[in-house]
Amino acid sequence: MSDTVQQVKDKLSIVDVVSQYVKLERSGSSLRARCPFHAEKTPSFFVSPERGTYHCFGCDTGGDIFSFVQAIEGLDFKGALKVLADKAGVEVVYGRGGKEKKDERDRLFELLEVATIYYSSHLTEEAKKYLKERGMSAQTISAFRLGWAGNEWSELTDHLKAKSASGGKFTEKEILEAGLGKKSERASAGWRISDKFRNRIVFPIADSAGRVVGFSGRTFGEHASPEAPKYLNSPETPLFRKSRILYGFDRAKGAMRKHNFAVLVEGQMDLLASHQAGWTNTLAVSGTAFTPEHATLIRRMTDNLVIALDADPAGIKAAGRAARAALQGGLNVKVAQLPNECDPADLIEKEGKEAWSRCIRDAKDIITFLLDVLEEHSKGPDWFRRSVESVVLPYLSDMRSPIAREQYVREIAERLGVSESAVADALAQLPRVPAQGGEARSDTPAMSATPEKSDVSPRGLGRLKQAYGILLWQLSLPKPQIDTTRYLSEMEEAAGEETFKNLKKLPEEEQEALRFSVESLYAEDVNLEREMQALLRVIHRQRLMEELDIATMALKQAEKSAKEKEAERLLAVCKMLTTRIAQLHEKV
Ligand code: CTP
Ligand code: MN
Repeated sequence: MSDTVQQVKDKLSIVDVVSQYVKLERSGSSLRARCPFHAEKTPSFFVSPERGTYHCFGCDTGGDIFSFVQAIEGLDFKGALKVLADKAGVEVVYGRGGKEKKDERDRLFELLEVATIYYSSHLTEEAKKYLKERGMSAQTISAFRLGWAGNEWSELTDHLKAKSASGGKFTEKEILEAGLGKKSERASAGWRISDKFRNRIVFPIADSAGRVVGFSGRTFGEHASPEAPKYLNSPETPLFRKSRILYGFDRAKGAMRKHNFAVLVEGQMDLLASHQAGWTNTLAVSGTAFTPEHATLIRRMTDNLVIALDADPAGIKAAGRAARAALQGGLNVKVAQLPNECDPADLIEKEGKEAWSRCIRDAKDIITFLLDVLEEHSKGPDWFRRSVESVVLPYLSDMRSPIAREQYVREIAERLGVSESAVADALAQLPRVPAQGGEARSDTPAMSATPEKSDVSPRGLGRLKQAYGILLWQLSLPKPQIDTTRYLSEMEEAAGEETFKNLKKLPEEEQEALRFSVESLYAEDVNLEREMQALLRVIHRQRLMEELDIATMALKQAEKSAKEKEAERLLAVCKMLTTRIAQLHEKV
């Protein structure tokens, strides 16, 4: 595999790779862009073509083409290697002589790939006819690798047990682990496991690198029975993490970036129809709940989501839940309104792709959508006001951007005919969902107001720089949340004149980077006033303790060399410092 890595590196430059995801602009010998891993207004993300690396000064991330793709696509190393190898036209070859043995995950991926090939090569004429009747072209069928799971009890299992692409055979344990087998009811007849999918059209579900991780199977026509569900999905497996996988994601990546939005539909058929209609930026939840994790995945490609779930009551409820998860994940959300009793597949089948395009283009912003629906069903102004408070405001509190929130407060106040501050007050009483940390693009990990716990803050800033960063950030705002003049002088007092001067002398670039990292470090709802005071107290105490150390040493020196006057003066200094440290300690 190391050969493959080298070949990929030879063929693809860092610029080739990064520019697929972000817009790069020249800046000296490097290129710069707004960082795709944290929110920022001014670019602090740099790419160096000579070194083949990238680095963001704002969030302090960096690496080569592989780590970039891992981070932006949320993949493991091998997944990133596959994405890049595909792009470079290089085949992934494992080391000869079994030196680089495939691990368990590789084996499962291979098993699922063998299964996909098996199913798709067994797609019957009958199934093709059904799909054609539903408007699917031969090209769509092959692009999405649709297949057929036959009637036999253990066709696929037998096939997998008999062979694997690399010569070995798959074990029953592996087949179960991949979610393709089930413990057989016919154990007495000598069968231990049988196929999970039977008599169904199968839709392979892939991860972001296009590796198949699971399947969804649909019955149709004579194969359908009242006892069997219309759709059957692979269970959760080590590879198929439902909260992180969206149907169609691997094929929609480019289009999501190009259109700068994604479309979310419910089912597999909706997704196929939408892609075929030209909306290749479509994703499907396909039988699972949309989670903030899904939103994080989408945010690596775009910040905007159009939700087009069914127009029935269940669909509207699901759309609401999906919208909240999407907002919590930091996406801007619009809702596409489908005609009654219609899902996207039905709409495209009945009214054509133009109707679907119109539906997507006319999508309403989520808050406007909710206000419209409530107003339409309103039983009077009081009812309207109450339902806005209970239905709409929770959506607002999910929003990550304080700017967006403020805009909506204004819109809601206007629609209700009340003051903005009344709406803001009602909003303030709702619990705020804490922003998530950790993920590449979830950029506002909530900070505690007790920075004492560790010397270095989460993103590696010292406290001093952290506090200074907060000031720089606040100073850049038209309406700072804290009294900047006061804190500037308090900071000078806490840090000492000399240190404070040095901070102010930091190069422009570094000040900028500081400001960004701090800005992205704090969730909007953190009490900055408290945070600042806590930081300054610790900075102050630390400085005084350093001074005490120095004074104590000097005192010893003075006593040794019998400089009485000097010793007396230093003793007083030490006493003064000790008292002040104790005072500060009390405040903490
Ligand atoms: N689904 C599921 N399990 C079920 C039923 C549905 O996972 N038992 C998921 C599938 O992803 C399906 C989606 O929910 O595509 C929508 O289901 P449904 O509304 O029942 O689909 P229809 O529109 O009736 O089905 P189709 O478009 O395939 O005719
Ligand atoms: Mn449908």
